[in-house]
Amino acid sequence: MIELVAKLVPEAVKKLIPYQSARRIGGSGRIWLNANELEQPLHSSSVDANYNRYPDFLPHDVASAYQRYANTQASTLAVRGADEAIDLLIRTFCKPGQDQIVICSPTYAMYEFCADSLAINTLDVPLQADFNLDVDAIITQAKHANIVFLCSPNNPTGNLIPRNDILSVLEGTQDSALVVVDEAYIEFELQSSIVDLIEQYPHLVVIRTLSKAFGLAAVRCGFILASDEVMSYVTKLVPPYPMPDCSANIVLEALSEKGLETMHQATRSLIETREWFREMLKTFDFIEHSYASATNFVLLKIAPDTDLFAVLLDNGIVARNQTHEPSLSQCVRITIGSKESMIEVIEALTNYSKSNTVNTK
Ligand SMILES: Cc1ncc(COP(=O)(O)O)c(C=O)c1O
Repeated sequence: MIELVAKLVPEAVKKLIPYQSARRIGGSGRIWLNANELEQPLHSSSVDANYNRYPDFLPHDVASAYQRYANTQASTLAVRGADEAIDLLIRTFCKPGQDQIVICSPTYAMYEFCADSLAINTLDVPLQADFNLDVDAIITQAKHANIVFLCSPNNPTGNLIPRNDILSVLEGTQDSALVVVDEAYIEFELQSSIVDLIEQYPHLVVIRTLSKAFGLAAVRCGFILASDEVMSYVTKLVPPYPMPDCSANIVLEALSEKGLETMHQATRSLIETREWFREMLKTFDFIEHSYASATNFVLLKIAPDTDLFAVLLDNGIVARNQTHEPSLSQCVRITIGSKESMIEVIEALTNYSKSNTVNTK
């Protein structure tokens, strides 16, 4: 399988010598005049934090803290959000204008977007009607691709991919493609993570983020967890300073024992609100279905004569329309916010329901 990883990497990437930033070169000395930084901070906020200096070339302390949290020995790289992880992986393992990736629509749009931006073709193996994977078709298409992107739990459908299905894909792709599993929402079902499989399957890569359950979307922090072999190529392309110091400091706090306890508590509370909300939705006959969710959002299937997105917008509530997805043309995705916000959503739906009943009498 190690041969597979090397086989997928374009020759141009293999030949790359990582950019030798001042921090990467390192060294020892008293007076540092090697990176064209200002030697003294100008702003009071940066006096203690040394913001005048470039950060670590790879934020090792952040990566180790995340490894501890994720309970893994796998190589871990901190990047600017899961979006940067997707882009980096495609650029590392696909040759522009030539290679292909596999996605399973409807899914997170950035896999295809990043591929498009590099003239890399996307092969779509749509999810089945119950939103499960078509495992055999994925394995067949993977023979023509360099990366298979799986999203678990999936955005926008909200379901987790069963571990056995991921195992089958991993078994069937050992000679063909890298399997990237995007676990952006895994904190809402943490026991189902497949990070532990990296040791057994060096062609498995897991993407994580602090933008969801950790509540740090503005900090821009994501992670790539992978075998040493995969990481040796990814780190060739990583930008010289992938994480600002101010973000790294916030991330270290979030990954501390206290930070993790806060996240777990907030996650439990959000799940409670989510299930309360789904229960309340049962009273509205214009909502045909609320799909079970392993995330911080729910996908709703709406009756054809109701424009739920517009109804919510009339009440100042912005949801996400899914009409652009052929298989979700009647669907709206709603993020689970505070209990107060979800009560407002229910009130808006109740008012619509009442006016609709009056109008049709
Ligand atoms: C499945 C999935 N992956 C990745 C991302 C991007 O996360 P980040 O904010 O870490 O770039 C999102 C954001 O919505 C997502 O839904």
